[in-house]
Amino acid sequence: MTSNERFKTYVEGFDKILEGGVPAGHVVLVSGTPGTMKSSLTYYMLYHHAKENGKTGIYVTLEQSRESLVRQMEKMGMKAKEVEDKLNVLDLGLIRKKLKQISGGGSWMQVFKSYLENLKENLKYDLLAIDSLDVLETMADIENRRTELFYLFEWLRGLDATVLLISEASPEKILEGSFDEGYLSDGIISLKMQVVRDVETQRRIRCVKMRETNHDPSYFSLLFSGGKFQVTKVISE
Ligand SMILES: Nc1ncnc2c1ncn2[C@@H]1O[C@H](COP(=O)(O)OP(=O)(O)OP(=O)(O)O)[C@@H](O)[C@H]1O
Ligand SMILES: [Mg+2]
Repeated sequence: MTSNERFKTYVEGFDKILEGGVPAGHVVLVSGTPGTMKSSLTYYMLYHHAKENGKTGIYVTLEQSRESLVRQMEKMGMKAKEVEDKLNVLDLGLIRKKLKQISGGGSWMQVFKSYLENLKENLKYDLLAIDSLDVLETMADIENRRTELFYLFEWLRGLDATVLLISEASPEKILEGSFDEGYLSDGIISLKMQVVRDVETQRRIRCVKMRETNHDPSYFSLLFSGGKFQVTKVISE
C-alpha cells in the first residue's frame, strides 16, 4: 500500500471534498441513524473499487444476512456477479460456521480477529467494511468499552487495509465528549435525514473528520439516482 494512496468513495462531488478520497490505511466510521444509507454507501464504495479499480474488498454484515444485503444492492444496480472475484460478503451464519472450525476456545472477538487475519493472508484485501461496530460490540460482550475499543482500533490499523466501520451513532452523539470511537478513528463520515418541511426530507452527508485531509466539514445533500450517489450543496433549509 503506497502511503499517499487515497480510496475514492465514488460519490460524485464528495471525493473532491476529501482531496481525492479516504487515505489508505485509515479506519473510518460511517455513522448514522437507521435508514440513512450507511450500508448502501459503504457497499457502493467497495463495489466500485472491485469493479473499476481491481481492489479486493470484504464486507462483514453482522446485522443483515448476506442474501438480504446482496438483494438490496442488486436492486440499487450493483450486480454481485460483476464483482464476484473481488468483493466478498460474509454474514454471521458464514462466520459462525468458520468460527467452529478455527475456534480454540478463544473469545468471540479473538476468533473473529483471527478469521479476518487469515482472510488477509489468503485474499490480501485492500478494503474491509464491518457492519456494524455496535453489533460487533454486542457479540463480543465487552466489559471495559474504552480499553477494548482502543485495542480493536489498534488491531484494525495493523491489518494493512482501509477500514470502514459502520456505527449507529447519531450526529448529536458524535459530538459528545465521551464518544470514544470518534477519537480513535482516523475519519468520520456522518449521514442523516433532515426534515426540510413536513412534505420534504432530505438525506445529508458530512465529513466530520478526516486525518491528513483539508476538508469542508459542512453538510451536503446526498442523492441516489440512476445507480449513482452524488452530493450537492444544500440549497434549502
Ligand atoms: N433504489 C433505491 N433508491 C434510493 N433509495 C433507496 C433505494 N433502495 C433503498 N433505498 C433507501 O435506502 C434505505 C436503506 O438503506 P441502508 O440499508 O443502506 O441504510 P442503513 O443506514 O444501513 O440502515 P440500517 O440502520 O437499517 O442498517 C431505505 O430506507 C430506502 O429509503
Ligand atoms: Mg445497514
